[in-house]
Amino acid sequence: MSSTSEEEKFIPRNDTFLDQTLRPSSFDEYIGQDTVKSNLHILLSAAKERGNPPEHILFYGPPGLGKTTLAHLIAKELGGNLRSTSGPAIERVGDLAALLTNLVPGDVLFIDEIHRLSRTIEEVLYPAMESGALNIIIGKGPSARTLELPLPPFTLIAATTRVADLSAPLRSRFSGGVFRLEFYSEDNIADIVRRSAGILGVDIEEGGVREIAKRSRATPRTANYLLKRARDFAQLKRLPLSETIVADALGLLEVDALGLTPIDRKLLIALIERFNGGPAGVAALGAALSEEPTTISEVHEPFLLQLGLIERTPRGRVATAAAYAHVGRTPPANLNEKLL
Ligand SMILES: Nc1ncnc2c1ncn2[C@@H]1O[C@H](COP(=O)(O)OP(=O)(O)OP(=O)(O)O)[C@@H](O)[C@H]1O
Ligand SMILES: [Mg+2]
Repeated sequence: MSSTSEEEKFIPRNDTFLDQTLRPSSFDEYIGQDTVKSNLHILLSAAKERGNPPEHILFYGPPGLGKTTLAHLIAKELGGNLRSTSGPAIERVGDLAALLTNLVPGDVLFIDEIHRLSRTIEEVLYPAMESGALNIIIGKGPSARTLELPLPPFTLIAATTRVADLSAPLRSRFSGGVFRLEFYSEDNIADIVRRSAGILGVDIEEGGVREIAKRSRATPRTANYLLKRARDFAQLKRLPLSETIVADALGLLEVDALGLTPIDRKLLIALIERFNGGPAGVAALGAALSEEPTTISEVHEPFLLQLGLIERTPRGRVATAAAYAHVGRTPPANLNEKLL
């Protein structure tokens, strides 16, 4: 089709994309996280030069910052396959044994949500990580014996949003590195938005890019989500993705100028009104909002902490002066004592 009607300008060409389309397929396309990338580059290059698989790697940090993406990039860099599973999916020792014994040299095993592995499975994983052997106990009682199955050399990459829930012995076995992914700068998010817009075939003005970047919670997944929603909005209105249109689209999604969602704001208001600004525990906040405490601590809290809207004290979470200002409430006189 060669016509370029007004209609066509706003309707993207390939609308059948999946999230996969936007996932970087090389380290060059992976924007930001420079320290992690530099360390990985050394780890991978040195291992490749020696002809060995790199040692095991753990990525942790809030959702949507690019942990799974890094696992894919590493497997690709090593020229092996990424065998993906997750902590809750490995229920029995047999599940893990099947995964490990099916690896071929050069494969990378990816275990997402590693904090959800059971202790029994962890015990089997230790020798596999350390000496490349699978110890399986056969029989019961006095006649029980251990069968040792050698495994092909492999690299385990694990990811978690809750590194504190990992046992110390498990954590210490990631000898290739334990890497914390950081929230992205606004400039990095803007680069990601431009790249994604290019892939999706969406024309977006620079003002629109900046507006999405500001409201993306410093998180690539959110940036891509907001870009797609703003694109839908602009497409139906037959308008270009300008700063104003993006602001209108995101306003309709109730994403505010700081990138907070209705739940983030409810959390701040509950903390301020029901708990007098805190300190309040995650469980109490969860109950007040009818949300799982883990959703509060893994999804909402990290960004509110990052923005300085809440602080963690030994007695619980406390709203800061910035939080009062953001939701239009007056801070109490004793706010500074609470923050100690
Ligand atoms: N550094 C980056 N550069 C460009 N795009 C990125 C980057 N990191 C992540 N993305 C985009 O964000 C999406 C989410 O990333 P990913 O799935 O790797 O996050 P995650 O940390 O594994 O999240 P979760 O904890 O929820 O599993 C990816 O599909 C990709 O499109
Ligand atoms: Mg992931």
